[in-house]
Amino acid sequence: MPRGFFITFEGGEGAGKSTQIHLLADRLRREGRDVLTTREPGGSPGAEAIRHVLLSGAAEPFGATLEAILFAAARSDHVEQVIRPAVESGAIVLCDRFLDSSRVYQGVTGGLASDFMAALERVTVNGLIPDLTVILDIDPEEGLRRASERRGKATADRFEKENLEIHRRRREAFLNIAAREPQRCVVIDASRSADAVSENVTEIVLRVIFDRAGLSEPTEAGSV
Ligand code: TYD
Repeated sequence: MPRGFFITFEGGEGAGKSTQIHLLADRLRREGRDVLTTREPGGSPGAEAIRHVLLSGAAEPFGATLEAILFAAARSDHVEQVIRPAVESGAIVLCDRFLDSSRVYQGVTGGLASDFMAALERVTVNGLIPDLTVILDIDPEEGLRRASERRGKATADRFEKENLEIHRRRREAFLNIAAREPQRCVVIDASRSADAVSENVTEIVLRVIFDRAGLSEPTEAGSV
């Protein structure tokens, strides 16, 4: 059984991560591949319980350090209960947000020390680094407009409601990560239509999968 593939999607609010994951999963499944889609914070029963505490803002009064530890606890459970077993069984796992969101939201704009964040990350992911990270890049003004359209009358979550300047710093921080780790990260212009972005994402993901021995043979349902 070949090891599967772990692909994460990152970016600011309203960048279209969930739409892109959905389109890519459909495409890969049509080719007969085993695909698991998941998200953070959440993705396992334990982590989904923590998600509620984080996104409702209930943990905010306790400060950025405690929030970072809660994101890490949720991630650790998600990694060990869901992601690692799926990747080890040969699946392609598509995850909406992962370690880069913590680096950006808690580390950069949360102002936490980088050695603390690095130590927390090491313990949390326990060696499970994404094979590929797709960073969907969009002007935060446009992203927030899209997010508010999607939300309708529901209220913005703990992180969405922060000011534009913070969202701009997050965009820069994602781009900096991509510049520092070009072998893992690819930046995609997410201001285009969902179909155009999806074409771009699919082409990159198929190329990366194709390059990996063991997952590269054409399946019965079609070839890559
Ligand atoms: P979610 O409703 O999943 O929205 P989005 O479509 O933006 O992913 O909200 C997740 C929020 O949690 C989002 O504002 C980013 C934030 N977050 C962190 O601050 N740190 C993290 O490690 C993760 C995974 C998410």
